[in-house]
Amino acid sequence: MARLGINVDHVATVRQARGGTEPDPVIAATLCERAGADFIVMHLREDRRHIQDRDVRLVGELLQTHLDLEMAATDEMVAIAEEIQPQVAMLVPEKRQELTTEGGLDVLSQQESLSKQIQRIHNAGIKVSLFIDPIPEQIKASRDAGADIVELHTGTYANARGEAQQQELQALTAGALLASGLGLTVTAGHGLNYHNVQSVNAIPQISGFSIGHAIVSRAVMVGMERAVREMAALVHTPPGIPA
Ligand code: PXP
Repeated sequence: MARLGINVDHVATVRQARGGTEPDPVIAATLCERAGADFIVMHLREDRRHIQDRDVRLVGELLQTHLDLEMAATDEMVAIAEEIQPQVAMLVPEKRQELTTEGGLDVLSQQESLSKQIQRIHNAGIKVSLFIDPIPEQIKASRDAGADIVELHTGTYANARGEAQQQELQALTAGALLASGLGLTVTAGHGLNYHNVQSVNAIPQISGFSIGHAIVSRAVMVGMERAVREMAALVHTPPGIPA
């Protein structure tokens, strides 16, 4: 059975829209755990656009399961991982202009520098995952750089339709087989939702998923009625007038 990691970045995005304290991704993370999440994912971006340092610190302390810290392979982020001690540090490419992570890491072109950061993270007792496209050369380079895990980027599959989507699924299937044969743990994530996750979950080598946007989006919808009912009860019943 695959493990479900829930990325709570989008809860933080709503909080940051007002610059206040609600909704708190830390509380969301504990609710996700209670509902059956196997682990929590947070991406501490260099520009701190959603998740803040305080969020990863608190979640690192509170979780009964574990934290996967998604981060760029920079000295600043590696130092934070050393301090927070997530179970997994997932290295991703990061561009300031992007709306979300737009593709896998190019491990081939930076194998040497990545190897150094991976060694440093390993020295802190933390496993390393590399977020890559399902391309054989990138998978082999990830193994050579010392990664424990590869998260295969499913965004292209998620955005494709028809025959193109089947081809992307085949690339993920072949990539998972290759990576697992090389001794890597294989996970998958990005763009997965309630419609497209099952086909990827049929790939036996994929042992975990990181899913965020679809779950936070659905939570807003399934929670809307209750939220309105609670506010309507307050507004329709002025204080001092018995219900
Ligand atoms: N994996 C990685 C590396 C990501 O950057 C993201 C998005 O933050 C996810 C998984 C989750 O993607 P989504 O929010 O589309 O489910």
